Amino acid sequence: MPYPYVLLSAAVSLDGYLDDTTPERLLLSSRADFDRVDEVRASVDAILIGAGTIRADNPRLLVNSPERRAVRVAAGLPPYPLKVTVSGSGDLDPAANFWHTGGEKVVYTTEKGAERVRALGIAADAVPLGPELDWRRLLEHLHDVRGVRRLMVEGGGTIHTQLLRQGLADELQLVLAPLFVGDPAAPRLFGPGGYQGGRLRLVETRRIEDVVLNRYEPTAPGAGPLPAAADRHWLAVACELAADCPPSETAFSVGAVIVAADGTELARGHSREAGDPVVHAEEAALAKLDPADPRLPAATVYSSLEPCARRSSRPAPCARLILDAGVRRVVTAWREPDTFVTEADGTGLLTAQGVDVLVLPEYEERAKEPNRHLL
Ligand SMILES: NC(=O)c1ccc[n+]([C@@H]2O[C@H](COP(=O)([O-])OP(=O)(O)OC[C@H]3O[C@@H](n4cnc5c(N)ncnc54)[C@H](OP(=O)(O)O)[C@@H]3O)[C@@H](O)[C@H]2O)c1
Repeated sequence: MPYPYVLLSAAVSLDGYLDDTTPERLLLSSRADFDRVDEVRASVDAILIGAGTIRADNPRLLVNSPERRAVRVAAGLPPYPLKVTVSGSGDLDPAANFWHTGGEKVVYTTEKGAERVRALGIAADAVPLGPELDWRRLLEHLHDVRGVRRLMVEGGGTIHTQLLRQGLADELQLVLAPLFVGDPAAPRLFGPGGYQGGRLRLVETRRIEDVVLNRYEPTAPGAGPLPAAADRHWLAVACELAADCPPSETAFSVGAVIVAADGTELARGHSREAGDPVVHAEEAALAKLDPADPRLPAATVYSSLEPCARRSSRPAPCARLILDAGVRRVVTAWREPDTFVTEADGTGLLTAQGVDVLVLPEYEERAKEPNRHLL
């Protein structure tokens, strides 16, 4: 199931705190940065905060600029994005500003929490997600039922920590404010726990008055059959590589990337690269690695077209090369059509050997793009 694009947004002190412990909200951003946040809010379909932030800050969470609201309306959107909160307990203040400003509101909660939300007369749609709150179900519901394609998450730390650790954040917009909190009882942006092993990708730094905005993208592939946000990024890279292939009337143009569990790119390849008229993308990428590379068994192969199951140009098809390399996870955009080989089923061959193969059909059109003349 596709999820919305999830953008985490937060401001922190130099010592990594989201707030202090006084009852008033600590203002970390500069004036111009609050305006930038308003602009980001105006660009999304929904904004989510945790119940803890409603209790601590009593925010209204609006698009404040009338011009930005007018642009949304002109584009056929509601003036304000959908406001979303999560609460396991359902123990929310019915008088909080969140419910009485802006447009539509939804509370994702547990079965018990939904009873409490309704009993309290909270002015929002209460959606129970079972006995526990499941983030994947929440994102699916936002996407499929509410039509949310871009979701901005504005904290607090409990929410950001879960989304990042579960591989569900596409982007982190982090503002560093030039002040210290210095109180160990104050809330931190990220709690302890298992984050991705390697480095995130820094995509932008921007000075905004006296604060700095850093934008990062997580890089680590998902685990097993569950897709992570970074899987989408890497599959998009594979689709872009397919466009680099020398054109052919007799073979597909395909791109492939191999990524270690910690998000390090190990190798990439594309069809017919380096003057080899028959080399396949996965084959070209694997050939750049030492077969004994200890990172391969936990790596993910991203390929714009599913790895081939049969081929006449070389003794081993790509599915076999992947199995021999010990790779246990493949993400692809497009199942092989019958154009050159009937009933090719690289996915079946791999899954029969215990490899997790994820097909993300939302990338199929991109994978097909350099192959239109063959279809
Ligand atoms: N500087 C910034 O950019 C920024 C932004 C936002 C917030 N903040 C600060 O962050 C602090 C609040 O952060 P926080 O971590 O305490 O709260 P939070 O992340 O806003 O919300 C936590 C609450 O959300 C619900 N929740 C989260 N995950 C859940 C799950 N898996 N299942 C069920 N319920 C779940 C629970 O609500 P129930 O308790 O109702 O079950 C939980 O207590 C405040 O001090 C605020 O000022 C700062």
